Amino acid sequence: MPPAQTWDPDVYARNARFVSNLGAPVLRWLAPQPGERILDLGCGDGALTLRLLEAGCEVVAVDSSAPQVEAARKLGLDARVISGEELPFHEEFDAVFSNAVLHWIKRANEMIASVYRSLKPGGRFVAECGGYGCVNKIKSALVEALNRRSIAGEAAVPWYFPQPDDYAARLERAGFRVDRIELFPRPTPLPGDIIGWLETFGQAFVNALSPADRKDYLEEVRARLEPQLRDSTGTWIADYVRLRFAAVKA
Ligand code: BEZ
Repeated sequence: MPPAQTWDPDVYARNARFVSNLGAPVLRWLAPQPGERILDLGCGDGALTLRLLEAGCEVVAVDSSAPQVEAARKLGLDARVISGEELPFHEEFDAVFSNAVLHWIKRANEMIASVYRSLKPGGRFVAECGGYGCVNKIKSALVEALNRRSIAGEAAVPWYFPQPDDYAARLERAGFRVDRIELFPRPTPLPGDIIGWLETFGQAFVNALSPADRKDYLEEVRARLEPQLRDSTGTWIADYVRLRFAAVKA
């Protein structure tokens, strides 16, 4: 079976640069201070991680994708291939930061426990990810087009988009104090056609089909979404919802 999701730094830079570009608000919640030791969980190609270095922090960046870690290393970052549920650190960081990654981690409790272990007492966990309802229209179109091909679409969904109450409860059970948690819609203009987004982020659905069937599938999903997500200027606007939180290791 092919892997559900892989990352190609060139494709990511072309179709998904907006992800790191839109990271400024969660960085402001983090408020990184010079000299702090910070772990960037899910650093991708490291574009946003660089902002932490520029703030004078000592940064370790981790990602489960080897090609993305290689791209991050080319920027001069201390980047390592490690998944969020298996962080090998013990009370080492003043803060753990994460942007647009946690919704890919379905074993959320294991990841949260792993972050907790990595933080010094009083350390901060500040993150933003997809929240409840995120890309609902896109997800429905992907799921239903698989169902029409007699493939269980819901089983292919690779994302976990939590409600704030659910996530806050998980954080508190792990020992965090949750200072702020917010869920809000953020309609997101895409840099190109929705097909680029689907090919970059929707591989779990596309890979459920044989290569010969994929083009037709993507065209069908695109046609279904066009009246819902393409505006009068031709721009595609993805129906993102964000969950942003700041928690402290009590
Ligand atoms: C997000 O950042 O919310 C997101 C990214 C990829 C797929 C779905 C959601």
